[in-house]
Parts: sequence; structure tokens; C-alpha cells
Amino acid sequence: MIQWDDSLSVNVAAIDLQHKKLVKMINELNDAMRVGKSKGVLGSIVNGLIGYVGVHFSTEEKYFAQFNYPETDQHIQEHKAFSAKVDDFAKKFQIGQLGLSIDVMTFLSDWLGKHIKGTDKKCSACFNANGLK
Ligand SMILES: [Fe+2]
Repeated sequence: MIQWDDSLSVNVAAIDLQHKKLVKMINELNDAMRVGKSKGVLGSIVNGLIGYVGVHFSTEEKYFAQFNYPETDQHIQEHKAFSAKVDDFAKKFQIGQLGLSIDVMTFLSDWLGKHIKGTDKKCSACFNANGLK
């Protein structure tokens, strides 16, 4: 799926740590899907991932507010769109309308990789300038 390497670093230790955990959770979900874990097990990994995505987005957004980050609105929009999509998937998964698939996993890992390399990296200069390293 997605592997951590330095190309994903945003130069802020606390954010890198959270991104590493998200990468790990996506890989755990992918592994669980591949070995055919039960819907209950997959559902609890999905819920854990959604919970941690929420924690992570709030961490970034707290710093945007604290540092008056100029691109706050666009960045929060991306977070919201992703959360809405994942919440919608989780609901459909719970009621059996949708299953986990390679497409879903590819969407999650691609989104995270692109978001970190593009959108998140844009705010790291601002974070660093405000003393966050
Ligand atoms: Fe972000």
C-alpha cells in the first residue's frame, strides 16, 4: 500500500509521527482485508482509523488557527471532503452496502500520500517559522 519514507516528512516531528501512524493503520486494514478477516474485525479497524484521522486533522487545524496559517480554509476543505467520504463509506460498510476492496484501499493510500506531499507540505514552512519542528 503506502510506505513511509522521508519523501513524506513534513519536517515537524509530531505531525510526522501521526502520519506514520495513519500509514500503519491503512496497511493494517489492507492486510486484514487480504487475509479475509471478518466484517466485525474490519469494521473496528475502520472505526479506529476514522477516529485517528479526526485526532490528526484537529491537530493540524489547531496549529492553523494558532499560527494564522493563510491557506487554512482550503486545507480544512480537503480534510472535510475526505472525512465525509470515509464516513459515508463506513456507514455503507456497516449496513452491508459496500465491502472493502482494493479500490477503497487505493483511494485511502493515494489520498494520504498526495495530501501529505502536496497540501501538508505547504504548511510546514509556516509551522517551522512558528517554532514547530
Ligand atoms: Fe492535512
